[in-house]
Amino acid sequence: MSDSVIRAAHDVLIVGGGGAGLRAAIAIAETNPGLDVAVVSKVYPMRSHTVSAEGGAAGVIADDDSLDEHCYDTVSGSDWLGDQNAIEAFVREAPRELLQLEHWGCPWSRQPDGRIAVRAFGGMKKKRTWFAADKTGFHMLHALFQTSLRYAEVTRYDEEFVTRLLVDDGRVHGAVAIGLMSGRIQAITAKAVILCTGGCGKVFPFTTNANINTGDGMALAYRAGAPLEDMEFVQYHPTGLPFTGILITEAARAEGGWLLNKDGYRYLQDYDLGTPTPTPELRSMELGPRDRLSQAFVHEVEKGRAADSPYGPVVHLDLRHLGEALIDAKLPFVRELCLKYERIDPVHELVPVRPVVHYMMGGVSTDIDGATPLGGLYAAGETACVSINGANRLGSNSLPECLVFGARAGRAAAEYASAAGSTPSVVEAQATDEVRRLERDLLGKRPGGESIAAVREDMQATMEEAAGIFRTGPAMAKGADTLAELQERIGDVDLADTSRSFNTELLAALELANMLDISECILQAGMQREESRGAHQRTDFPARDDERFLTHLLVHRNPDGRSRIEHMPVTITRWVPGERVYGR
Ligand code: FUM
Repeated sequence: MSDSVIRAAHDVLIVGGGGAGLRAAIAIAETNPGLDVAVVSKVYPMRSHTVSAEGGAAGVIADDDSLDEHCYDTVSGSDWLGDQNAIEAFVREAPRELLQLEHWGCPWSRQPDGRIAVRAFGGMKKKRTWFAADKTGFHMLHALFQTSLRYAEVTRYDEEFVTRLLVDDGRVHGAVAIGLMSGRIQAITAKAVILCTGGCGKVFPFTTNANINTGDGMALAYRAGAPLEDMEFVQYHPTGLPFTGILITEAARAEGGWLLNKDGYRYLQDYDLGTPTPTPELRSMELGPRDRLSQAFVHEVEKGRAADSPYGPVVHLDLRHLGEALIDAKLPFVRELCLKYERIDPVHELVPVRPVVHYMMGGVSTDIDGATPLGGLYAAGETACVSINGANRLGSNSLPECLVFGARAGRAAAEYASAAGSTPSVVEAQATDEVRRLERDLLGKRPGGESIAAVREDMQATMEEAAGIFRTGPAMAKGADTLAELQERIGDVDLADTSRSFNTELLAALELANMLDISECILQAGMQREESRGAHQRTDFPARDDERFLTHLLVHRNPDGRSRIEHMPVTITRWVPGERVYGR
């Protein structure tokens, strides 16, 4: 590296310090203690978005459950788009990972006899969701973080933002990162890189996702030449608080909560959710799959049966019949959130809710060990598309996905790094270029252009309009045209802040560039998929079309910056595509 570029060298670089990233770091340290691991995270790891996961983590443990049933629910929940080899590996390894987490300190809720307690969750026909009250992600992340601290070979770069991957001849050799506190720009070379940066909910205006979820890993991979897979599938969670988008966990319905329209009627009984007649035990009506519940909400609005709120139409979550003792024991966070953000006590009052963007089924295309088509580049967690979620993820499958595939990616990257050669000198020029770009274009004073906030708001409005719960080809095409204009506009964004320390304006501009690329991928894939499947519902193509679209869509970036779509077969092992039903 030239003298002007500050350089750090490690064997494996993990981008992202949430559940998947920390699990990968531990797996690498355990696989080969001789490897030197770096974790770069744009927030302190305990502030990663995993911390806000609430309801639980699925893994077969109950006597009346089986691996086959978890596989089937996940395959059918994915609307047959999930890769069944990945789903089988996931289901097999999830219970082991969850038990491992217990040994690392995660306080799973218990039954009175001391066994692990499991709750029902949407689209799962057996109770298999482990939980730690309704703060599951918080406890899981704590257990992972404190365990990662045991390994001296793990170096952390907290509050550093990765702006570019270093690539040569189809292989990744590290990244360039900027320290948010210091403004220091450095090249971090590594033999393997694992992307674990979470999702990209912030491309939409109303989301459960934290402000940090700007699709950074997806954008880094896409620009470096790795394809993104199934980006058209965006999950709406049926119960977010209006205005803030804060998640009211599915656990509230698993514990027996009802969804009511403005007439106090449990409206879901009027819709085909693919679930059997509701039973008091599994409460399958409110626990139908998320895509169908969100679609039912739209129909209630169309029928004039939703209630008005200052933030648009809502329905109501009714927990009153559960009683204070149960709410305080199993849903304390729900009560706290409702009190703090809505001044509503769910013990006595109805909670207004509406669907909210929650999760990306798509992401960086990987095999079942997290490997992307780019040598040395891996991805895991929501950043990746492995793909176990297909067209619709079942609630509580994502936390164990972070564990299972974080560990797998860690082990695979460790093996790759152990055998890889040294960093080629050609990446030096790339690192120097990137440092110059950041210094010149971004740290140089350039006030008076476009407002970052205005471009971001236009992008979010465009995405909601074009790629919401229901979509059409013309609406997505119009959205894509608007995005192209926004891409022009960000070339001229206003960067008045020249300070190096906590230059949040610079960070916002970099994140916005990432989100615009991701938004484009969502719309391009959405236009190509001329069918309705899972979370991708096209009113101009209302039926599922296995003949043409039982296939993944890969979005590649051409050298000219435009996107190109390829089809990739779905892996079917044991479950032939059929009608999507639950619990029958
Ligand atoms: O509702 C929830 O607690 C969300 C869980 C999940 O998305 O897996």
